[in-house]
Amino acid sequence: MSDPIVEAKRRRTFAIISHPDAGKTTLTEKFLLYGGALGKEAGTVKAREGRRSATSDWMELEQQRGISITSTVLQFEYRDCVVNLLDTPGHRDFSEDTYRVLAAADAAVMVLDAAKGIEPQTLKLFEVCREREIPFLTFINKWDRPGKDPLQLLDEIEETLVVEPTPVTWPVGIPGDFRGVVHRGTGVYTRFERTARGSTIAPEEEVDEASAEAQDGEWWLQAKDEVDLLDEIGRVVDQKTFLAGESTPVFFGSALTNFGVRFLLDGVVDLVPPPAPRILADGSRRALDDPFAGLVFKVQAGMDKSHRDRIAFVRVCSGRFERGITAIAERTERQFSTKYAQAMFGQDRDTADEAYPGDVLGLVNANDLRVGDAVYVDKPASFPDLPAFAPEHFMRARVKDTSKFKQFRKGIAQLDEEGAIQVLRDEMGDQAPILAAVGPMQFEVANYRLQNEFGAEIEMTSTPYTIARKTDEESGPQLNAMQGVSVLRRDNGTFLALFESKYWMDRVLADHPELTLERMVAEGGLG
Ligand code: G4P
Repeated sequence: MSDPIVEAKRRRTFAIISHPDAGKTTLTEKFLLYGGALGKEAGTVKAREGRRSATSDWMELEQQRGISITSTVLQFEYRDCVVNLLDTPGHRDFSEDTYRVLAAADAAVMVLDAAKGIEPQTLKLFEVCREREIPFLTFINKWDRPGKDPLQLLDEIEETLVVEPTPVTWPVGIPGDFRGVVHRGTGVYTRFERTARGSTIAPEEEVDEASAEAQDGEWWLQAKDEVDLLDEIGRVVDQKTFLAGESTPVFFGSALTNFGVRFLLDGVVDLVPPPAPRILADGSRRALDDPFAGLVFKVQAGMDKSHRDRIAFVRVCSGRFERGITAIAERTERQFSTKYAQAMFGQDRDTADEAYPGDVLGLVNANDLRVGDAVYVDKPASFPDLPAFAPEHFMRARVKDTSKFKQFRKGIAQLDEEGAIQVLRDEMGDQAPILAAVGPMQFEVANYRLQNEFGAEIEMTSTPYTIARKTDEESGPQLNAMQGVSVLRRDNGTFLALFESKYWMDRVLADHPELTLERMVAEGGLG
């Protein structure tokens, strides 16, 4: 049995965020290659017999759209650390999910395409990072092909994101003719050699100055000048500003050819902070060696149609989790068994026997759990609420075939509990709830899942609303009586006031300062 404090210290839990196509999937694969875990995929998703096809059914929609909706968690060991890598949805419409995943991560890696720099999606996801106050590393990918000038990319990061980029490695050779990288900490120049599509670890050679100049001539001299310039202007990695989100250590590389991947992984181990005592709802902190407590950051059902299973993804925040213990769900105070807890990764085991702060568990059929809940043993825990994102798209949903109403109701409740979409009700109640989304693609997912998982085909009709604020029971009736405003209730007891326009909302705010109308995260859109 290990000490949770010692184990927590070896954990590095982070998420990758990137614009679709920047190379997140490729980089994840390469991390696994360098972590020695390639070929062993996420345990929960792939472990059970027959799962693969069921899983790919659910992925059908993602494939059709070429985006990643669901997130997975992978774990591998690297150096003396246990690395937990959380995947995030790549599309802005799912930024609320990204936020929740980041609530379970201690840092993020932002992947940029060297030819594209900061793309709109990156910016939006970055803002979610900032909202969450999470430190992040930057990986400038695809250096094996033509792209922007490295100094220009640094300027772009600085100007667009308003953070100071502090390169850890610096590329030798222009994009498209990538020779290697200089590590600014050690001054060592490492040359890489290509392998076929990077299927094996890229051979590396540490080159001294004389042979660098002989072999890489002007590229080497240019890199040296640029590194000198960076030194002169003080662009060096600073742990304090990095942790505060004010600077970002930058790595250059090519995930496809594996160039620079090892340096990035070393950066994760050296720079990403290990799990710290978690802040609780009352402002105190849960010590790492307190009894087990975990945060539910994602609930997902429908990974297996035949089983109708529901998995709660839990980030361990304190203590030692041992499979089989009886835990308590904070919200209902009900006990549940963790006999079927699963580790959310491969690593030669399908079920989690033990886990420590920073690790992620999958609790199967823990039906009492919702996103944001705590689970614990012995000593109660409650985490601060995860903020709801401001929905900007509102559609009324009805079941097409009324004989399927029961399935429809169940499906809607399920999507709401998972946080896949916000479900609002007015006097039409369950007959025709309003689905509220941060991005329209959430409607597609809801539609697809209601039909495919619950057999309830729906029709959606548009509504005039474009913006929402959180209100309460006192202000609700007065707002509801106004023209162009509707107050609807969520199942979790919160009330949202929906407005037809921002202009109208601002007028109501100006005329009635006494009414409660609270902003939600990302109102007016991210970016
Ligand atoms: P994503 O998860 O962020 O959406 O990106 P993904 O890894 O799927 O990569 C998107 C495309 O970019 C893929 O090409 C991938 O091979 C390519 N790519 C990733 N990293 C690098 C890199 O370092 N250099 C180069 N040149 N390409 C890279 P694809 O054509 O869509 O797929 P495939 O046919 O190559 O598999």
